[in-house]
Amino acid sequence: MSKINAEDKLRIINLPKILDRRGNLSIIEEMKNIPFEIKRSFWIYDVPGGETRGGHAYKETQEFIVALSGSFDVVIDDGKTKQTFSLNRSYYGLYVPKLMWRQMINFSTNSLALVVASTEYKADDYIRDYSEFLRVKNNE
Ligand code: TYD
Repeated sequence: MSKINAEDKLRIINLPKILDRRGNLSIIEEMKNIPFEIKRSFWIYDVPGGETRGGHAYKETQEFIVALSGSFDVVIDDGKTKQTFSLNRSYYGLYVPKLMWRQMINFSTNSLALVVASTEYKADDYIRDYSEFLRVKNNE
């Protein structure tokens, strides 16, 4: 079993929130609010009602997911248990370590999911087969 640092754990991370009557502002800084260096950002939007995203794990990539607008749920499966995190505010997000099976569901109309990731995009970092995921987890 490999060692897990406290900061490597799956968890909700609250972001700084600068309240202002002109509008609020929140911040993500690498190695400060989130425990990795940011190599990539992408966002998921215009999700039709009832659609799901994800359905895979990454061998190396860590992610931080924020609902910049609207709401959705992230279901995380570590190979043993499933946890559902509801994201619906832009001042916190979900830190997802590598090797976690994730699904994003229940997108509200006009929701916007920001994902910042620790790696450049590589198709071979994906584990898209659930039984392969379980095999990899059991050999950790
Ligand atoms: P994918 O990660 O499978 O989407 P999701 O997990 O949200 O359902 O990505 C969908 C497609 O977009 C896939 O063909 C790969 C491509 N893609 C990139 O080219 N670069 C990226 O950084 C990401 C995240 C996806």
